[in-house]
Amino acid sequence: MALHNYDVKDRSLAEAGRRRIEWAFREMPVVGLIRERFRKEQPLKGVRISACLHVTTETANLALTLKAGGADLILCASNPLSTQDDAAAALVEYDIPANAIKGEDETTYYKHINTAIDHKPQLPVDDGADLVTTLHTKRQEMLGDVIGGTEETTTGVVRLRSMADAGKLKYPIIAVNDAQTKYLFDNRYGTGQSTIDGITRATNILWAGKKVVICGYGWCGHGIALRARGLGSHVIVTEVEPVRALEAVMDGYQVMPLIEAARLGDIFITIAGDKNVIDKAHLQLMKDGAILANSGHFNVEINIPALESLTRKKRRIRPFVDEYTLDDGRHLYLLGEGRLVNLAAAEGHPASVMDMSFANQALCLEYIVKNRGKLETKVYPVPQEIDKEVARLKLQSMGINIDRLTKEQEEYLTSWEEGT
Ligand SMILES: NC(=O)c1ccc[n+]([C@@H]2O[C@H](COP(=O)([O-])OP(=O)(O)OC[C@H]3O[C@@H](n4cnc5c(N)ncnc54)[C@H](O)[C@@H]3O)[C@@H](O)[C@H]2O)c1
Repeated sequence: MALHNYDVKDRSLAEAGRRRIEWAFREMPVVGLIRERFRKEQPLKGVRISACLHVTTETANLALTLKAGGADLILCASNPLSTQDDAAAALVEYDIPANAIKGEDETTYYKHINTAIDHKPQLPVDDGADLVTTLHTKRQEMLGDVIGGTEETTTGVVRLRSMADAGKLKYPIIAVNDAQTKYLFDNRYGTGQSTIDGITRATNILWAGKKVVICGYGWCGHGIALRARGLGSHVIVTEVEPVRALEAVMDGYQVMPLIEAARLGDIFITIAGDKNVIDKAHLQLMKDGAILANSGHFNVEINIPALESLTRKKRRIRPFVDEYTLDDGRHLYLLGEGRLVNLAAAEGHPASVMDMSFANQALCLEYIVKNRGKLETKVYPVPQEIDKEVARLKLQSMGINIDRLTKEQEEYLTSWEEGT
């Protein structure tokens, strides 16, 4: 059947995309095992899925897995700058309509989300909650068929919890982000490595000896700090939450308010999931030549309108690097238009961590279908048995065995009688 509901940049990129999808799959053994089982058991047979995700080679492998399980699937981008055009083209060749073009404007971005909603989703899959929000505000007539959905990232989960608290959420959603096999690996090691990768590819800077200011010490911030230190940078962390700030201190980083760090940093990375983290007052203090990058979900973490208001001249000096010449003559360099730099200027997370995140996605979607009609309208954590199964399969794929509790230990760990 010829597809019609897709929109990609250039279908001739499909062969390159197909090869890169195959390459990524080599590092996705858990998704591979699930794909084989799905092919046999068809747990998603005939189920309509609209997935709003970063359209990358790893996402393509998730899409192929859901399709192998019988799903009738459509994809759209979850960020205007994160699409890999070759992967999107290849998906169309695989008969999966992709609606995603790298660099699409906001109108096209929402047009693509609406095309995905036109598919009448039974399982909406989201990353950042733009699909869910559109569905709940502008396309409520499409809510009727929804069984339940999943959400991939921290910022999306924050938005959904707030919707649920306000009594606005209309169907059950599983917060895939909050699985241990997601945030401990994807957010920490995935964002850690790929953020450094994005900044390196965009700028080719040497990290050794640089002062790197990381705004936000959540799981992603932990990973970026770890990797920047590993490359020889002096890491400064800024936080608003005392426990996390304390943790950063004891992890060996300098911690101070951003208004103090602003004068010191060579590179600033926002990863707070918050708005105007780097604001006008900070921009006014930064050194000539400072580099600004964001890896948080939305492009609101650096106050770009404030940066524009201080600017007399702007030019694109390299791909993904905009040079802002300020009225006072200083230059600041904004990467990837303030959008998540790891996906804008590099390829996002390595396949090996997406293997776990997307294994959770696939298993949670299967769980929702199996429990159709039994789930309440709220935000659910990933069921523990799924989280543990993903960890078990990942270890197995790495050829790593672990110990098992003896009967005696099991009893000891569930009793209170034994002491000194
Ligand atoms: N780039 C990617 O591929 C990628 C991957 C995963 C998550 N994310 C996104 O990254 C962001 C962070 O995710 P996370 O899982 O680390 O979240 P998190 O909630 O674990 O951590 C965020 C931290 O930022 C701190 N913070 C909030 N406002 C701040 C401010 N004004 N100044 C300093 N610190 C502040 C919070 O106290 C918190 O400790 C989210 O937007 C998430 O969706 C991006």
